Amino acid sequence: MFYNKSNDHMCGIVGYVGKNECTDILIDSLSKLEYRGYDSAGIAVFDSGEIKVAKSKGRLADLVEKMKTEGKIKGHAGIGHTRWATHGEPSDINSHPHSGKRVTIVHNGIIENYKQIKDFLISQNREFLSETDTEVVAQLLDYYYEGDPLDAIIKVMREIRGSFALGIVFADFADTVYAVRRESPLIVGVGENESFIASDVPAILKYTKNYYLLEHDEISVLNKDGVKFYNLHKKEIKLELKTADWDMDAAEKNGFEHFMLKEIHEQPTAIRTTITPRIVDGLPNLEECGITPEALKKFNRIHIVACGTAMHAGTVGKYIIEKLARVPVIVDIASEFRYRDPLLDENDLVIIISQSGETADSLAALRLSKEIGAKTLAIVNAKGSSIAREADMLIYTHAGPEIAVASTKAYMVQIAVMYLLAFELAYAVGKIDIDECRRLTSLLSSTPDIIENILEHKEHTQYIASSLITADSLLYIGRGLDYALSMEGSLKLKEISYIHSESYAAGELKHGTISLISDGMPVIAVATQKSLFEKTVSNIKEVKARGAKVIMVCRDSYDPEKDIADYKFGLPDIDDIIMPMIAVVPLQLIAYYTSVLRGNDVDKPRNLAKSVTVE
Ligand code: G6P
Repeated sequence: MFYNKSNDHMCGIVGYVGKNECTDILIDSLSKLEYRGYDSAGIAVFDSGEIKVAKSKGRLADLVEKMKTEGKIKGHAGIGHTRWATHGEPSDINSHPHSGKRVTIVHNGIIENYKQIKDFLISQNREFLSETDTEVVAQLLDYYYEGDPLDAIIKVMREIRGSFALGIVFADFADTVYAVRRESPLIVGVGENESFIASDVPAILKYTKNYYLLEHDEISVLNKDGVKFYNLHKKEIKLELKTADWDMDAAEKNGFEHFMLKEIHEQPTAIRTTITPRIVDGLPNLEECGITPEALKKFNRIHIVACGTAMHAGTVGKYIIEKLARVPVIVDIASEFRYRDPLLDENDLVIIISQSGETADSLAALRLSKEIGAKTLAIVNAKGSSIAREADMLIYTHAGPEIAVASTKAYMVQIAVMYLLAFELAYAVGKIDIDECRRLTSLLSSTPDIIENILEHKEHTQYIASSLITADSLLYIGRGLDYALSMEGSLKLKEISYIHSESYAAGELKHGTISLISDGMPVIAVATQKSLFEKTVSNIKEVKARGAKVIMVCRDSYDPEKDIADYKFGLPDIDDIIMPMIAVVPLQLIAYYTSVLRGNDVDKPRNLAKSVTVE
């Protein structure tokens, strides 16, 4: 079998100790973490005092099925795992938990020096069943274990390198769960006579809102007496108890067929919750985030660095900041930025945008920017995440938990924050006056109502989607802000429908890409910008003349002739600048319905994971 650096990079881990029978709780908690990976799953439970393991390749449902035939394991303490393989095939044997003789663990992250450790352990006559780095940690724990779990964990923590979170059970210590983390996220939840570990808050919300955020190199011990924390000197430490402000509903589908559809519908609320506290007297006010107009206007240049959808939100940000504030903005993909020796100095502001706040490349870009001496500002959704904690300035987006892998409401509030920043900066540098700043801010505040209205007509996007389901490939075109938006529309469609799609600047098509157009190929033309409308229409005519099936997303007031568009999704007339906030909604819905109609797993598209904590 192909041997790779690590089979287990991402993944979700959970653990439970308490009054209740835990198998169903572990499975239920894991189901809330499937966004972190879903190609195999497993649990280890103290069943009649003995550690019993059940694991399986495939979805959690496959594990549940397997337990039906093999017999359910039962107990009051255990750990669980849902996995996302970055290399190598998901298989039963590579699924977690992994065990040494007296230790069983679940693991999220990478052990960088696993190879040296494995060689050493092999030289000590230890044998390995799987090819994962996780099993190396289990065996190393076993090697150091001499009766005191904390001693063994501390020794292992001193030896292993990388970013990881571990849930651990020792055969000699029934009904006790140990947890430790470095870089990768881990929380410890506490309820009445029960406690939990989890990679993320939604996993425990059904049971408790109270949790501790484990810091780097801190160890937690969960048993019937409660929860204790230790540092690597084996000294007991106290952590601050936090309360999640997300409620259970936020992590449930609430009657929607998919999380993605539910999250699309949550966008108006998410915008209101994100912008309302940052608007004072009709003007943007980011002081609660430590950002003043004086501080903002000092920067000569802005870099926006992010991955995936968050990067697309940054691209919208570039257009609006440059247009309104006339400050140069460079948008970078985090994985490129970090290795291209970026030109930065203390007069540069680096904005990192991230839903999860844990994306490895974005976090590395943040650290690099700080090291070089630039000021950093994070726009993050997940409270207490690494990016949120490490940036110099921080604006939280209040989207609540986003469960669907394809991001919708998180993108929406990311761009809402970009607008607030652009307005504040433009006003601070004197490019717009107070009245214009108020007018723009109130336009932004009006978007939730407009979106609610668009959502009432969503069946029209379903009809449009039905014309896409047999396509092999399609194009999104637009100019200016419409181009920035097309990128997101195209990504959304390809990630969940599995139809190849590209976004292209409409005016650039004729320099090569137009040769792809053949009879019936769908082209989604985003043409909301009045100032560029005629230019875009010319480009639409060019593709139409070559046989394209054109779907136009434009103002409702425009009535396209047959030689321009086959389908139209009409939007209300508002200022060009604010259009992306509303025009993205039909693009999200078109992607959603295309995926549904093709029978795909909308919320968990193949090969993807929501939180990408590896390079
Ligand atoms: C993954 C997700 C995307 C997301 C990107 C960046 O690829 O599937 O939806 O946009 O990571 O994630 P972040 O948490 O940093 O926004």
